[in-house]
Amino acid sequence: MQKVAKLVIDGKELMLPVVEGSEGEKAIDIRSLRQETGYITFDPGFGNTGTCRSAITYMDGEKGILRYRGIPIEQLAENSTFVETAFLLITGQLPTREELTRTSVYLNDFSPLHENMKAFYQNYPPKAHPMGILSAMVNAMRSFYPELIDLEEEMNKTYLRLISKIRTMAAMAYRISLGERVVYPRPDLCYCANFLNMMFDNVVVPYHVDDDLVRALNVFWILHADHEQNCSTTAVRVVGSGKVNIYSTISAGISALWGPLHGGANQAVVNMLEDIHKKGLTVKDCIAKAKDKKDPFRLMGFGHRVYKTYDPRAKIMKKMGDIILSKIKRKDPLLDIAQRLEEAALKDSYFKEKNLYPNVDFYSGIVLRAMGIPTNMFTVMFAIGRLPGWIAQWKEDVSDPEMKISRPRQIYTGQQERDYIPIDDRE
Ligand code: CMC
Repeated sequence: MQKVAKLVIDGKELMLPVVEGSEGEKAIDIRSLRQETGYITFDPGFGNTGTCRSAITYMDGEKGILRYRGIPIEQLAENSTFVETAFLLITGQLPTREELTRTSVYLNDFSPLHENMKAFYQNYPPKAHPMGILSAMVNAMRSFYPELIDLEEEMNKTYLRLISKIRTMAAMAYRISLGERVVYPRPDLCYCANFLNMMFDNVVVPYHVDDDLVRALNVFWILHADHEQNCSTTAVRVVGSGKVNIYSTISAGISALWGPLHGGANQAVVNMLEDIHKKGLTVKDCIAKAKDKKDPFRLMGFGHRVYKTYDPRAKIMKKMGDIILSKIKRKDPLLDIAQRLEEAALKDSYFKEKNLYPNVDFYSGIVLRAMGIPTNMFTVMFAIGRLPGWIAQWKEDVSDPEMKISRPRQIYTGQQERDYIPIDDRE
């Protein structure tokens, strides 16, 4: 029997159907609410609002669960590669050996950039943030690669073109920002090794591809590959709902991810650690500042809108961090501050009561720094990882018969009707 929720309002009863997900998540379907009652729901930040049905990612913030297409993140981090995980997210299934080979061939074929795109980069101001450059470049892909044919096979190529080129674009932005020679992708290297080589290879010191770093990068990108309806994914779905092309849609996701409360948090973590180091603040000072409501300071990399016990990605990233840190054997004062901050916050009653645990960005900021990735590239690293998730969510959204253009309502709190006053009559 269809479960319903009864709403009594203004003496009127309304039966609202209950929608249930495959993991027992429940929602009240309010689509008839406004038409039947004249009321809308009020939910700033959408904390209680389901905006779609989705079969891509399941997370349970209370239990610290994250699964892509049903497979626990821990298993993917242990056994999969970023490319395989991207395939899983976009198609719904793990690839066969043949599908994986075909995917790799396309990723290789698509990896160089149109030479004219280089001119774009070269004309950016030298201090431009790579996230700004990346979102503009992805948007520009619509003009450089206009063939967007609706056939499934052709769209699959478009997804792979995006996944392949975003990595080349990110590394190119970095090289040009340093005024260094651009390194082209190599057909003999896998996705992650190719990226590291394009970032760090040098004519005088050739880059040596390190298997542990390649693994760490695979894990970092797997952990970031999707996270259901977060800020940037919602941006992708909202922008995509207007039926704009996929490149512009993804570019909107990149812009949304840039913010320090979202993807920018990994960079914000390292900026915070640098600031603490520069100002000579003690860990005790930082904890006190974070708790002081009059002080805007927050402990970056702590807290999460959904995870309220622990962030399962943070656990995996912390383990990866231990491996990389023991490997580089480099003393870094920021990493030392991070470790002490983490210990102090985990013991502090304010952080415990508010369920503020280190999130994935806390550890990924540390790991990326240890890998030699410059701080202003951190959010770009997140964006490369999140791309398969955005593509999967966009694909699901545009093929969902229930979806309409996103157009929320509001509670108007401005002036009621009043007359226009000619300028000479105004005080
Ligand atoms: N440091 C100090 N206090 C905090 C922090 C923090 N990092 N985060 C939350 N609080 C306090 C906040 O002041 C509030 O206190 P009160 O109840 O007394 O007003 C309470 O905890 C609840 O915070 P909130 O901002 O209402 O929680 P939220 O769910 O809206 O925000 C958050 C979640 C992630 C934006 C927030 O915890 C934050 O700003 N964290 C730091 C930035 C960060 O690390 N962001 C990355 C998140 S993970 C990225 C991803 O998954 O995409």
